[in-house]
Amino acid sequence: MDPYKLKKDFPVLDDETLIYLDTAASSLKPKQVIKKLDEYYEKYSVNVHRGVYNLSYVATEMYEDSRNKVSAFINADFNEIIFTRGASSALNLVATSYGLNNLSSTDEIIVSELEHHSQVLPWQNVSNITKAKLVYVPLNKEGRITIENFKKVLNENTKVVALNYISNVMGYIAPIKEIIKLSHEVGAIVSVDAAQAAPHKRIDVKDLDCDFLSFSGHKMLGPTGIGVLYGKSKLLDEMPPIEFGGDMNDNVDLYEASWKEIPYKFETGTPGIAGAIGLGAAIDYIESIGLEEIAIHEKELKDYTIKKLEELKDITVYNKTAETGIITFNIDGVHPHDAVTFFDGDNICMRAGHHCAQLIIKWLEVVATLRVSFYLYNTVEDCDKFVESVKNARDFFKSVGF
Ligand SMILES: Cc1ncc(COP(=O)(O)O)c(C=O)c1O
Repeated sequence: MDPYKLKKDFPVLDDETLIYLDTAASSLKPKQVIKKLDEYYEKYSVNVHRGVYNLSYVATEMYEDSRNKVSAFINADFNEIIFTRGASSALNLVATSYGLNNLSSTDEIIVSELEHHSQVLPWQNVSNITKAKLVYVPLNKEGRITIENFKKVLNENTKVVALNYISNVMGYIAPIKEIIKLSHEVGAIVSVDAAQAAPHKRIDVKDLDCDFLSFSGHKMLGPTGIGVLYGKSKLLDEMPPIEFGGDMNDNVDLYEASWKEIPYKFETGTPGIAGAIGLGAAIDYIESIGLEEIAIHEKELKDYTIKKLEELKDITVYNKTAETGIITFNIDGVHPHDAVTFFDGDNICMRAGHHCAQLIIKWLEVVATLRVSFYLYNTVEDCDKFVESVKNARDFFKSVGF
């Protein structure tokens, strides 16, 4: 894998001074994906599933071909892939459709303080409505979900386990396969938030045996506004739609209607056609490089950068042992928002704040953190410039009395 060559595929990086370290929020998009979007809009541009004319047939074929690519990407069956607006919509679909229809006051839902709001808040809502109990896995000293701690909260009342595969703040990989196995032993289903995993890690839903798995297109080189919910067909078949309208229905009478088979009963109205087609192109791009290669590259950059940060004084890194390309840290005594403004002055794009995961920020007992996240287009030079900017920021804020 040659990141210097790959950089050239990303038009945003035509500005060679720009250092993009915010992939965990959204990745940049390569021209191969942008071209595919252009192709759809320039040559077809019409709706899917409806038109009885050639353009619509072709658009439908492109849209469904992307579903094929997504299913192959995670080793799912074609009808188990539902296109959504993003990971958030997918996670909400599980909670609203499965959660509200299957849980009651004697049941328990396991979540963790390491979750993104899009995983924990839908289950908070389910808990409030059904009175099912929300139970938090205690994190270990490093802030990880461990099997030992998971076993402490799992019991026969557990009906749902809703956890992340890779944390967007700490970059830890959860022992999700074992969690799934243990959950199934007590009859619970598992909804995996794979928003940070799908862009960086090979996922095989059959091997994991997860019940649901959600991710977004825009974090893995694809367009915004498209996401994926994988669900086991047996569960999806039994679940009611949560949105009603055009295209998802079969027969419609005055007071009742019937629904199409999965996945279509969950895809109401005109879907994100261009987004889905673009996501297919993003998967082609990723597969042409190899997820394993990408993951090794990111981890190398992360280890290299942490080593350099350790040479500086007054820097606290919160996730030194992370297995992925995410670094969460602070410059001691400097508010992350001030620091990130300084980095912006060096044309470095980074995230500061709670990263839509306030629970882990509170667990860390800080107000906010800085976060770097690497991807295939980052280089060692990016890391060097970033560390230099951290050093300069630290010196500047100290010199003005922070
Ligand atoms: C772990 C995790 N889950 C869910 C989401 C939500 O994804 P989206 O905003 O694309 O719906 C994110 C986005 O940052 C995330 O990092």
